[in-house]
Amino acid sequence: MSLKILILGVNGFIGSNLSEYILKHRDWSIFGMDIQSGKLEKCLGNPRFTFVEGDITINREWVQYHVKKCDVVIPLVAIATPATYVKDPLAVFELDFEANLAIVRDCVRHKKRILFPSTSEVYGMNPEREFDEETSNFVLGPINKQRWIYACSKQLLDRVIYGYGFEKRLQYTLFRPFNWIGPKLDNIWAAKEGSSRVLTQFVGNIIRGSNVYLVNGGSQRRCFLYIDDAVEALVRIIENKNGGADGRIFNIGDARNDMSIRELAEILVEMIGSYPGYAEAARKAKIVPIESKEYYGAGYEDILVRVPSIRNAETHLGWRPTTDLKTAIRKTLDYYLLAGPTDSADLRETPTTP
Ligand code: UGA
Repeated sequence: MSLKILILGVNGFIGSNLSEYILKHRDWSIFGMDIQSGKLEKCLGNPRFTFVEGDITINREWVQYHVKKCDVVIPLVAIATPATYVKDPLAVFELDFEANLAIVRDCVRHKKRILFPSTSEVYGMNPEREFDEETSNFVLGPINKQRWIYACSKQLLDRVIYGYGFEKRLQYTLFRPFNWIGPKLDNIWAAKEGSSRVLTQFVGNIIRGSNVYLVNGGSQRRCFLYIDDAVEALVRIIENKNGGADGRIFNIGDARNDMSIRELAEILVEMIGSYPGYAEAARKAKIVPIESKEYYGAGYEDILVRVPSIRNAETHLGWRPTTDLKTAIRKTLDYYLLAGPTDSADLRETPTTP
C-alpha cells in the first residue's frame, strides 16, 4: 500500500533526511509542515511531496485535516538544544509538550498511527551501563536544574501516549534518538555559542579558528549514530512488519560509537585540518576547558555516560546500525565543508527534535 505520511517539522534534521530517503526509495507520499524549507531542496518539486510553510501551533486546522487524511503521523517539532532548556524552559514545555499533546490527541480522535520522538535524555543520570526501554529508571535532577525540563516534558508525553495506547487503543511507537549526527544537523555557519548540538558546535568553532569549549573538561561521553542508520530504523518502524513496532519503545543508537567529548574535539581538529581551505583555521582553534556554569548557566546539569541497549530494535525491527563513528564524522564533514557556505547557507535554525 502506498502510505500517506504527515511529517511536522519536516525541515529539521530528522524530517529532511527521512523525507529525502522516502521519496527516493519508497512510493509513499509526504505531507510536511515547517516554518522553514532550507533543507528540503531535494524534496520540493517532487509530486509526492506536499510542503506548507507554517507553524503547527497556529495552523491547527491544516494539521487536523492532514492527521485525518494521512496513515502515519510523525510530529518532529521540538526545541532540542540544551542551551535553550536552560535559557527558556517554558518555551520547551510549551512546544515540546503542549503543542505536541494537541497532535497526540488529534491522532487519538482520528484513530491514526503516531510515531513519536522521545529522547535518550529521559534516562537522565541513571548510572546503569546501558539503558533499557522497559526496565531502566529515569533519574532527573532538581527543579532548579531546568535543563531537565526537556527530558521531563518528553517523559510525560511518553507516558501520555502510552496511556492513550492502554486506554484508547492508540496505535503508537516511541523512538529514542541517541545523539544522531549527520548532514543538516545544525547550521554551522552561524557563530552562536550553544545554538547547536556538540558536533556541529565544534565544527563551527574550528572552521572559524575560534575556541572549542569542553564543558567541565570534556570527559563526559556520548554514543553517536549516523543519520542514515537512524533513517533506516525509522523506515522499518513506518513499515511496521507484522505489527512489530506497535506499542513499543525503541532506543535508536550505537553503543560502539561511544566517545568522550574531548576525544571528539581532538578528532575534529585533526580531520578538519585536512579539508581544503581549513588547515589554518584548524591550527588556530584551541581546545579550552570551561565550567558548565559559565558556558550554559547554573541551571545546567549533565549526563556523563549514555549508552543505549538496542535489543528491542534488533528483535522487533531487525535493525542494526552499520556506520562507524569515523565514517559518520567524515561524511558529515564532507557535507558541510566540501559544499561550502553557499550550498548550505539556508540551514537556518529550525527547532526540531532531537
Ligand atoms: C542532546 C539534546 O538534548 C538533544 O538533541 C537530544 O535529545 C539528545 O542529546 C540526543 O540526541 O540523544 P546532549 O547530548 O547533552 O543532549 O547535547 P549536546 O549539545 O550535543 O552536548 C553533548 C555534550 O557535549 C554535553 O556534555 C555538553 O556539555 C558538551 N558540549 C557541548 C561541550 O563540551 N561543548 C560545547 O560547545 C557543546
